[in-house]
Amino acid sequence: MMKLGVCWYPEQWPEDWWEDDARRMAAMGLTRVRIGEFAWSRMEPSPGRFDWGWLDRAMDLLHRHGLGVILGTPTATPPKWLVDSMPDMLAVDAEGRPRRFGSRRHYCFSHAGYRAESRRITTEVARRYGRHPALVAWQTDNEYGCHDTVVSHSPAAARAFRSWLAARYGDVAALNAAWGTVFWSTEYRSFDEIDLPCLTVTEPNPAHSLDFRRFSSDQVVSFNREQVDILRELSPGREITHNAMGFVTSFDHHALARDLDVITWDSYPLGFLEQFWFDETDKHRYARQGHPDVSAFHHDLYRGCGRGRFAVMEQQPGPVNWAARNPAPLPGMVRLWTLEAMAHGAEFVAYFRWRQAPFAQEQMHAGLLRPDRQDDVGAFEARAAASDITRLGLPDDPVAPARVALVFDYESVWVTDIQPQGAGFSALRRAFEWYSALRGLGLDLDIVAPGAALEGYAFVVVPCLPILPEGFVDRLAACGAQVLIGPRSGSKTRHFAIPDTLPPGDLQKLIGLKVTRVESLRPGVASPPALDWLEHCETAIAPESTLADGHGLLWRAGRIRYLAATIDREALVRVLDAAAGDAQIPTRTLPEGLRLRRHQGLVFAFNHAAETRRLPEGLGRDFILGAEDLPPAGVAVWREAERREVQ
Ligand code: GAL
Repeated sequence: MMKLGVCWYPEQWPEDWWEDDARRMAAMGLTRVRIGEFAWSRMEPSPGRFDWGWLDRAMDLLHRHGLGVILGTPTATPPKWLVDSMPDMLAVDAEGRPRRFGSRRHYCFSHAGYRAESRRITTEVARRYGRHPALVAWQTDNEYGCHDTVVSHSPAAARAFRSWLAARYGDVAALNAAWGTVFWSTEYRSFDEIDLPCLTVTEPNPAHSLDFRRFSSDQVVSFNREQVDILRELSPGREITHNAMGFVTSFDHHALARDLDVITWDSYPLGFLEQFWFDETDKHRYARQGHPDVSAFHHDLYRGCGRGRFAVMEQQPGPVNWAARNPAPLPGMVRLWTLEAMAHGAEFVAYFRWRQAPFAQEQMHAGLLRPDRQDDVGAFEARAAASDITRLGLPDDPVAPARVALVFDYESVWVTDIQPQGAGFSALRRAFEWYSALRGLGLDLDIVAPGAALEGYAFVVVPCLPILPEGFVDRLAACGAQVLIGPRSGSKTRHFAIPDTLPPGDLQKLIGLKVTRVESLRPGVASPPALDWLEHCETAIAPESTLADGHGLLWRAGRIRYLAATIDREALVRVLDAAAGDAQIPTRTLPEGLRLRRHQGLVFAFNHAAETRRLPEGLGRDFILGAEDLPPAGVAVWREAERREVQ
């Protein structure tokens, strides 16, 4: 059973510390160690001169201690000699400035020369270690998209984009028609005339921007696939993963994950709370615990991307260095996050990082160990989690599907980024808010791609899907579930135009209403004050709910409901609860900060609140872990009763 691991950087430490490190890792209950993902300058100190000695010794040592290695291809950190040999491999920002050497992720995905270098170093590493007995898996690169690095405005990207467009449209007249370039005299006579959509006086054509986002995403996927193909050939029987990030939507993770065996992600709950859209109350209330739904959202999202398989490659072990403020987690949170990942089906959780580095950019980032080699708080919590996991004896069986599916796709986020129409409108944020409301009702969810099979779900929610993918409406019609569709769904064609039939486009086959006008509102202008997006609908159906002035908000036709506004959490919870009721799914409003998750015949309860929480009446018995009262950061686990308690 492989459940816990750690990220280790042997190249950063004196070699006479390594043995002690490996011994302590094994003693702590860790079984996996990720190494190598930033070590190009040590693997190949100068062009074509390789130094594998240190890595050979590190791999052999880990193997002697029974630790399985996840080895990273080092392409997130091309060394100085490589950049100097072809400076145009650097990514270029939207202002046309090349990004510089001196940190990481400075390459452009479209640069043919860098692509060749990526294949070359991947081949070298794979030849050397592809069959090493310590090697269990590969990680390609590191966090595609981190530091806003998917989109590059380089000449190489412009050339590749033109070829991509030519392959997609065939004929420039088709592109002109699709984009509507008659508007503002932006017609093109050939693909060669098309530039990247940046530095325009005012906004570029949204169809142009959307195609550029699609192209940029495809570049990431094909870059990754080149490495995957090499690793598969030279390293048979080893799994391949990539470590995705939190709230990063700049490329299509569903597409990337299709080429991987298992997708992993990097979980920094306190950093995410501080860096994203949460209000001051939540930032304050959950400062040391993280938002109760953020980790779970990503576990469920990536499990969906990975067709049931995912893991956590980097878990925050203490304060990080990169958010506006970096508090220490509440005692117990590192253990809670670990068990929470398990409850959502993670195959393993690896902590980032083994020891805090006293030098360079991340010197203020905690590890399991302090820089003086003593155990830090994270080490104690990792040990506690290891012993809990043994006690729970979680089988490695596939994760059972939930009864509720939330449909999410990356293109929706690109559409709302490109034309938010109201400040801050984001399909990602909508998806998260709906997810959070459903979790607060005690429900387990799957987050699925719009292309996923929907049969078997009792309740399907579609928070915001502007472009309806081919076949989606038919799948929705055929699945038999209760459905709740959110605003802006079906509002655009695939070329970023308003559909001829008006929004919600083909969804009108399921519910007879047309959106004839939309308004985005400054908070407080309408009543209730939180309402910041309001659609005007033309329909013969009587609304199920209206604003005080009679403006329709929610309509229902059989199993299908359409919600025509963004409403506050309380109102959203009521709508979701009613639809869940129609789907015969029992709900239970959980106390603030408490969350439940059923997995492998067990029920897990997690307390993210800063105060003790009692489990709701009728929940919890024969506890394997914890008890009815959960202290802050407390976890309780019990066996699921025959009759399902919630759901
Ligand atoms: C991740 C990254 C790691 C490290 C970590 C710090 O984004 O993959 O290399 O930088 O953040 O929290």
